[in-house]
Amino acid sequence: MKKMKLKKKVKRLFILCIILIIGLVIGYNKYKEYQYKKTNEYKLTVVGYTLDESKIIIDKLNNENENYFINNTKIEYIIDLINEKYFLEKNLHEYIDYKNNNKSKELNEVVALVNVGANKDWYDVKKVKPTDLSKGDLILVNKFNYLTKDYVPEEITSISLSYAYSDNKVSKRCNDAYIEMAKAAKEDGIKLMANSTYRTYERQEKVYKDYYYSKGISYADKYAARAGYSEHQTGLAIDIFTPSHPTTSTFENSDAFVWLTNNAHKFGFILRYPKGKEHLTGYAYESWHYRYLGKDIATKVYESGLTYDEYYAYYLEN
Ligand code: DAL
Ligand code: ZN
Repeated sequence: MKKMKLKKKVKRLFILCIILIIGLVIGYNKYKEYQYKKTNEYKLTVVGYTLDESKIIIDKLNNENENYFINNTKIEYIIDLINEKYFLEKNLHEYIDYKNNNKSKELNEVVALVNVGANKDWYDVKKVKPTDLSKGDLILVNKFNYLTKDYVPEEITSISLSYAYSDNKVSKRCNDAYIEMAKAAKEDGIKLMANSTYRTYERQEKVYKDYYYSKGISYADKYAARAGYSEHQTGLAIDIFTPSHPTTSTFENSDAFVWLTNNAHKFGFILRYPKGKEHLTGYAYESWHYRYLGKDIATKVYESGLTYDEYYAYYLEN
């Protein structure tokens, strides 16, 4: 009899334990669920992103931007945008605005345009700023980054008349690199001749005005920089011709152009305004305009296939 009672008691205790354990498990799971619902991962899935998409957003973006996606309707292209090679988080909202207003634009184009600032008007007064001179030979001078009127490059040196049509000056490092390049070209039977190099602010003003008064503003802005916005004021740019093709309209058809296309980067120069990139540089294609950056960065820019404006925005600006 006593034994029976004990058995019953044990059984009851066992059942109680089981109930307790089940209760604990349920409680724990509920608690975990409650905690999970507080995470951004969960909140993003509520907006409509898949778990994988939510993880990408959390992995790649800061908290403020995660909250932006939690509080807005799902953006279908957002993961593709974040995964773009040259995506910069600081430009996220500009990418979204631009894409929403230009639905047919591919995402890589949106990223490139916004990175260089070309989603805004050229010379936009709210965007233009003095260029960051601390970048040395890598300074960016374009339609949003200018040099002040009094900016004069250091160590301006005349290029040997063996490799220039008239007295042409550039910064010393640019000159050294250009001479090294011109000598190497000469060994390959190519004659490089500098045609236009360092220009003062005042000189550039005249160049621009000449275009402006003879051809109008849109032509002028395609072919010449406004004063302060020209790479020629850096002392790091050279317009190169060759005696058989001594003009802007013919140079592209020369052997010298082919030679430069294959070799300029090895000496520290890049073609600054390439064909098909007018929407990113703001200038018409200029087969003759080369910019000195030093061998390392010139080679990297060349290999990247980017314009310098894009390269600078992604790799050098911050
Ligand atoms: N032609 C180039 C863009 C300049 O004027 O600097
Ligand atoms: Zn030029």
